[in-house]
Amino acid sequence: AASTLIAPSILAGDFSNLEGEATRMAEAGAEWLHVDICDGQFCGNLTIGAPVVKSLRSKTRLFLDCHLAVMHPESQVQQFAQAGADQLTFHPEAAKDSEALAVAIRTAGMKVGVALQPGSPTSVALPLLQKGLVDTVNVMAVEPGFGGQPFQEHVLEKVRELRDLFPSINIQVDGGVNPNRTAKLAKDAGANILIAGTSIFGSEDPKRVVSALKQA
Ligand code: DX5
Ligand code: ZN
Repeated sequence: AASTLIAPSILAGDFSNLEGEATRMAEAGAEWLHVDICDGQFCGNLTIGAPVVKSLRSKTRLFLDCHLAVMHPESQVQQFAQAGADQLTFHPEAAKDSEALAVAIRTAGMKVGVALQPGSPTSVALPLLQKGLVDTVNVMAVEPGFGGQPFQEHVLEKVRELRDLFPSINIQVDGGVNPNRTAKLAKDAGANILIAGTSIFGSEDPKRVVSALKQA
C-alpha cells in the first residue's frame, strides 16, 4: 500500500559519501534512513557511531532510524540524542534494563525501537510493548552485522503475531528485503516499514526499487 515507509540501510551505501547517499535516497522517495550502528562485539562488524550520525543530521531531513547492534546500548543514549537521531533501536538482550532504557530514550526526545534477531522470540519485547514503551519493532530477517544475507522466512510468523497484538505499532522488517518477493511477504505479514540495503543501493535505479517496494 502507499502507506508503506521505506528505510534504505546506509550500510549498503558509500561510507565515503554519506551526504550524497542520503540525498540520493531522499530523491528516490525514501522517508527514513536506516543507520546500522555495529560495535564489532554484539555483532561481527564495526560500522559508525554517533559522531557520524551528527554529521549526517546536518545534511539530511530524512528520519534517522538508528539501529544499535551494540553491547551496553544504555551508554549511548545521550550521544545519539545530541547527534539528532530520530529513533534509537536496541536489542533487549544487550540491555541492562530494557524498560529503563526505553524510558531514557523517550525522555531524551527520541522514538523507541526494539529489535529482534532472527532467533529471538517475541517474548523478549512483549513486556515493553504491553507497557506502551515502544514505537517500532524491528523484526530482523538476517543476523545483525552485514547486508546481503538471505531473508529468513520464519521471522514472518513473529510479524503476524505482533501485528495481531498491536494493530497500530510500527513494524519494520530488516534484512534481505527485495521487491521481487520478500517485500510482499513482509507486508502481507503486517510490516509497515521496509528496511532494505542491498536491493536499493545495489540498483542503478534506486527510485524504481523504492517505488516497487512501496507497491509490493
Ligand atoms: C544487518 C542490518 C540491516 C542490513 C540490511 O545488520 O540490520 O539493516 O543492512 O541489508 P540488506 O538489505 O542488504 O539485507
Ligand atoms: Zn539494521
